[in-house]
Amino acid sequence: MLDENYICYLIEECIKIRDNAYADYSAFKVGALIIDDNNEMSFGVNVENASYGLSICAERNAIFSAVTIGMKKIKILCVVGDSLSPISPCGACRQVISEFSDKDTVIILSNLEKKYKIFKIDELLPYSFKL
Ligand code: THU
Repeated sequence: MLDENYICYLIEECIKIRDNAYADYSAFKVGALIIDDNNEMSFGVNVENASYGLSICAERNAIFSAVTIGMKKIKILCVVGDSLSPISPCGACRQVISEFSDKDTVIILSNLEKKYKIFKIDELLPYSFKL
């Protein structure tokens, strides 16, 4: 169980990094962070493109950054966007999150008002594809 103050701190870090999102087409900025199995922190923001399909979500950017510095497993993933209820990751991100998650992975989804929900990957993506 995570301490409430720590959860707030993680959400605030996501809100700060979210400013760097490149969301010129949707105007929907998202910030994400990962605490990995080495207790390193990695960040990601969504980066859009004039060729819309090339855009990438904040979650996947955070995961790819974390893998780049040696992550094998996600301990904590926190994602924040300007949504009414806590943000809901897209299906593609759920599959990528599942690749680096296990039953202990904590997924914090929040909006800018720090209204958050905590999930396990099996709740976000039941019966996920695995090789
Ligand atoms: N987006 C994310 O980065 N994460 C989510 O959880 C939901 C959606 C991005 C994709 C796109 O750049 C913009 O938000 C609008 O869909």
